[in-house]
Amino acid sequence: MTDPELSELVRRFLAQWSCDLRSRVDPGKSWVESFLGPLERLDPNQVIAPHALQEPGDQSHPSLVHLDHAIASINLDTELGQLAGQLARRVKWRGLYKGGGVAPDLQDGMSAGRIAGPGALIESDKVLAGFFLLAPHVYYPKHDHEALEIYQALSGSTAVTHGIDGTPTHLERGGLSYQAEHVVHDLRVDDEPALLLYLWTGNLGVPTWWWRRDDDGHWWRDCWERQADLTMRKTRSLPVKP
Ligand SMILES: [Fe+2]
Repeated sequence: MTDPELSELVRRFLAQWSCDLRSRVDPGKSWVESFLGPLERLDPNQVIAPHALQEPGDQSHPSLVHLDHAIASINLDTELGQLAGQLARRVKWRGLYKGGGVAPDLQDGMSAGRIAGPGALIESDKVLAGFFLLAPHVYYPKHDHEALEIYQALSGSTAVTHGIDGTPTHLERGGLSYQAEHVVHDLRVDDEPALLLYLWTGNLGVPTWWWRRDDDGHWWRDCWERQADLTMRKTRSLPVKP
């Protein structure tokens, strides 16, 4: 089932996002190019109406109490900001992680509104794209994945750290953060909720590895995999080689 009005909004949003990303390639962000092809090949005519999507949403997820505030803080001086604010109210939201012993503040503090990907508004196995909402003070622990990832901040302030002992970079409105394949990274949200755009490309069908340090100071990578019922399960652990 299609929704012409939503398709038009998605079309304008994707065109504007692509245009915004293209404008960043020259100032030294050549990695943006890896994302442009898959993003620009998404077909807005294939948008499925949210109520017709098979995967369940969770419009009462606890993090969504912050959505209005996060949208109200978007920079509306840009067309991308205006379109993102409209689209964030139309996507189907759900928690990012649930079950499997994931800490309650993480289960309740993060949600995603998906635009493209398996089961999203636009079906795609080449790109994952959408909104990422994080409650104030959420700490998303160190993790890595094979897919290439961009975060683009719409509102809030989020400290992004690459590496075990990296220096945080503060992602403010309009800022971009790029995570190359298997680069470990973490996010820490400031006092305000954060609304980010996320974009993944590359090898999407692979799990995310969360990092932890044991009592002896050794680092481990734990593989978290989403189950058929959408809960998460830790399936194996590997030591991080020094
Ligand atoms: Fe990531």
